[in-house]
Amino acid sequence: MTLSGKRQDLLSAMRSRTGHWISGEELSGELGISRAAISKHIAAIKTLGYAISSAPGKGYLLTEAPDLLLAQEILLGLDTSVMGKNGIVHHHLTDSTNTRARDLARDGAPEGTLVVAEAQSAGRGRKGRSWLARPGEGLLFSLVLRPDMEPSRAALITLMTAVSVAEALINETGINARIKWPNDILVGGKKLAGILTEMSMELDAVDYVITGLGLNVNTPAKAFSPEITDIATSVMAESASAFSRVALLQAILSRFETHYQTLTTRGPETILARWKELSDIVGRRVRVSMMREEIEGQVTDIDADGVLLVQTEAGDALRILSGDVTYLDPCER
Ligand code: BTN
Repeated sequence: MTLSGKRQDLLSAMRSRTGHWISGEELSGELGISRAAISKHIAAIKTLGYAISSAPGKGYLLTEAPDLLLAQEILLGLDTSVMGKNGIVHHHLTDSTNTRARDLARDGAPEGTLVVAEAQSAGRGRKGRSWLARPGEGLLFSLVLRPDMEPSRAALITLMTAVSVAEALINETGINARIKWPNDILVGGKKLAGILTEMSMELDAVDYVITGLGLNVNTPAKAFSPEITDIATSVMAESASAFSRVALLQAILSRFETHYQTLTTRGPETILARWKELSDIVGRRVRVSMMREEIEGQVTDIDADGVLLVQTEAGDALRILSGDVTYLDPCER
């Protein structure tokens, strides 16, 4: 649900003074509506989980906002013009945000439509794997995109999403996030986030692309089971502090919008260069497990479609469109 204009403005005014009293008169002047209307909107905002006290002669005091990925929280301070600005759907629990976004896209949802969830019952990863996240601790979202690009280039959207997420993490949390081809965000070799990009084509053109992100944010280190504790991590486990999921989402959307515009209007060069910096994969020895075979070799480059180029010891130059990469040499960073 998205709040109506005046209600969103009122929430914004209250949130900017969290912990401070603000009089009904001041709010009424600021928003250009009556004090009776302020009181009605405050009552409605409280039903969404905001703790607001009121006292005669003092006005209103917002003490607590819900720790949820609510549309009205995301919109406060979101500096994009498309991503998240053309509709936000929030689920406390859904099957998969990618599935919800896909259904919305099929019904004509515009580019930038955002689906967020506190929990998923059937979160999906690549290759039929599932994505597990404890309720309220992760960032689980999907965006509807309608890029004017050839379907063969859609892999670039995954690379671009990875760059946006890694940059936002580095900037907001100081974590040394790195990209692992094609869709993982790692820190110190452990997985912090995964991206699932799904596309629908009509004839030779992209109809829509859904790009979904699962990012472990406030999952305590001890919550990872012994089987995955060596391969998975969270922002909290890496930095020993809790982070605002809303602030991280806003930062990711902001970078995403900039990179998406660059990719769709100017081509992939800028994003590929940044991807290479953040991925550290070029020059490294890797094993790539694909559907039917496994190969080893040295990564020579990523091509203009986001395809991994690997030179085997036998001298074959391979183009890898999809697979799981294992690094065979130690990381230098
Ligand atoms: C992977 O690592 O294989 C990709 C994981 C992607 C998980 C996210 S969670 C939000 C969105 N909805 C899904 O069902 N999957 C993606």
